[in-house]
Amino acid sequence: MEAPQTSDKYDIPAHVPPELVHPIGLTEGPEFLAAPYPFMAGLHDRLPPIFYSPSLTHGGAWHLIRHADCYFTLRHPELFTTAGATPFPRDPNNYFYFIPLEIDPPDHKKYRTVLEPMFSPRGIAKLEESIRQRANALIDQFIDQGECEFTTAFGRPLPVSVFLDLMGLPQDMLDTFVGWAMSLLHAQDRVAAATAMREISAYLAAVIAEKTKSPDDGAVSTIVHAAPDGVPLTEREIFGFVFFLFIAGLDTVFAAFNNIFAWLAENPKGRQEIIDNPDNIDGVVEELLRVYTVTFSGRTLTQDYEMHGVKMKKGDKITSILPAANYDPTVFENPREVNFNRPRKPTLAFAGGVHSCMGAHLARLETKVSISEFLRRIPNFQLKEGTKIEYWPGGVVGPKTVPLIW
Ligand code: HEM
Repeated sequence: MEAPQTSDKYDIPAHVPPELVHPIGLTEGPEFLAAPYPFMAGLHDRLPPIFYSPSLTHGGAWHLIRHADCYFTLRHPELFTTAGATPFPRDPNNYFYFIPLEIDPPDHKKYRTVLEPMFSPRGIAKLEESIRQRANALIDQFIDQGECEFTTAFGRPLPVSVFLDLMGLPQDMLDTFVGWAMSLLHAQDRVAAATAMREISAYLAAVIAEKTKSPDDGAVSTIVHAAPDGVPLTEREIFGFVFFLFIAGLDTVFAAFNNIFAWLAENPKGRQEIIDNPDNIDGVVEELLRVYTVTFSGRTLTQDYEMHGVKMKKGDKITSILPAANYDPTVFENPREVNFNRPRKPTLAFAGGVHSCMGAHLARLETKVSISEFLRRIPNFQLKEGTKIEYWPGGVVGPKTVPLIW
């Protein structure tokens, strides 16, 4: 085996050509954190379609920015596996997979079908009225104050309360769930993350035991009692499945909401256009999720593979920068412009291929209802004077706080 090359700070595998090494500091560097979306949109102007970026915290990976290349990796799980795709540490002696994301086809399908009816467009449509009620109950709490800190008043509690309903968990767990999600997913503090992981594990184990005895129609119970191909899931599979829903279904929605409402606060014309054209709300949601795509897809090569003349090796990590792909100028004309009437083209906000987001219909519905109800009740709002939006580091891109006044 060739010795790795060593730059000032990083070990770079010997097969990576030095001219393709660009330490961009994705998700953690100062340039990224100062303005993540202009930063990711701007990658197309200054970097080749595929480059290698080392990272002190995550190790190095090949990074893809073009829509077509990202989509290709997502559609070829036989070349680009999701095994080990999440960054959450697990005990090697008691290892469990995050299901369904970390399972490759063909096994992936049996898990995915378990919750298909619940997460299908028809299954999710049943939730619209309760999401609307929950959104309005939250707005009732702050509308008369003339201000709110959006993330704590709405951006986090709404998706958590919807999630608890869907999972069949009690609403009095709302604050605890928000706390866990924040410690686990945004802990710059490893001890806090490990504590949250232990607490979540203990809670989920108790819930799984309870649902085993007393079934209901929530997602946890459905998973507990599932028997795809006639074989019940093992305790470890159930745990990895339920835990992954928690990881996948909360922070992503928090981040999308916070980005979108910061944009709405700063764009009165955009708000008016949405209010004046209620029939185009689906176009609004798609466009805002395109410009504020919040996450990335991580894969590992199952064999040596060449792309754009770049020779990658089996075991190399690949990061598809989905937000950059959604600013690909060859697919989206004037990609930085928010245009609610742009021709519909598939975005990668929810990735694509077999692992495309299972919660996409739910996330779209929550976004649609939140924008419509908030603008119906508070049509004019802005960022509090002097606000400078700061972003969390990490694999889900969103503002830390969004203070609003009206
Ligand atoms: C705006 C909100 C959301 C965004 C942007 C988002 C984005 C994504 C993306 C990009 C993936 C693919 C990851 C990959 O390929 O590596 C994914 C997968 C997934 N998401 Fe979401 N997600 C959101 C909300 C949700 C919600 C609300 C749920 C469930 C309650 C959910 C459940 C899942 C699941 C289960 C997967 C794995 C699917 C599979 O492997 O087959 N997501 N999501």
